[in-house]
Amino acid sequence: MTHHQSMLRIVLLALPLIFVSTVSQSDAQDAEATAGISPRVVADYLHAVIQADRTLYATHVVSRMQDTGTVMASEGWKKRNALPLPAQMLLLSGLAVQEQGLGLQFRLASLWPIYERNGPTTEIETKGLEAITKDPSQPYTAVIKRGEKDYFMAIYADKAVSKSCVSCHNTHILSAKRDHKLGDVMGGIIISFPLGAEK
Ligand code: HEC
Repeated sequence: MTHHQSMLRIVLLALPLIFVSTVSQSDAQDAEATAGISPRVVADYLHAVIQADRTLYATHVVSRMQDTGTVMASEGWKKRNALPLPAQMLLLSGLAVQEQGLGLQFRLASLWPIYERNGPTTEIETKGLEAITKDPSQPYTAVIKRGEKDYFMAIYADKAVSKSCVSCHNTHILSAKRDHKLGDVMGGIIISFPLGAEK
């Protein structure tokens, strides 16, 4: 085979590959441009990540460090050289995300908050927290306005999954409710993000 012939063979063999790769690239672009993912599914994904982080932080960091006497978790963690409580970590992470300017927000809230700032801030949040208290099996969802823009909001029930939830909240000096029981809905995780890109 001459040099030219073998070059031709390589080019011919490679042609379908080039074709295939162009097709799949344009498919990907089409998918990005046209395929939608429902806001409810996005909210479910975000909730899954937020909950996983909180649970793993509570078990693999807070409980483990406390059990081994390494370091305690305390509400006054900054002054006390302690670990933040899981609720505090979630709230801090929500603030850090808010600072990124994506329009994405999430926080932990309750109809009976320890701190008033964690109470509902709008009527729809009150309605949502009431709804998930009655039926925690599914999130309460709504489209809300912030300024001119539409945001999707989802509120997921936050249940007393361990005795420590109950005992800490029932005995906290500022707590608005002192008869939480294991398994009760104690509040909710409120997630919201813009319907459409922020920038
Ligand atoms: C050691 C004490 C402690 C434990 C244990 C604890 N929390 Fe909290 N929780 C707090 C404090 C303190 C806040 C307020 C944090 C803030 O706003 O800085 C809070 C906030 C919350 C809020 C937001 C409303 C409010 O009360 O301010 C919810 C909902 C909540 N916790 C649910 C839970 C659940 C569910 C568990 C168990 C998985 C749990 N907490 C475990 C202390 C605790």
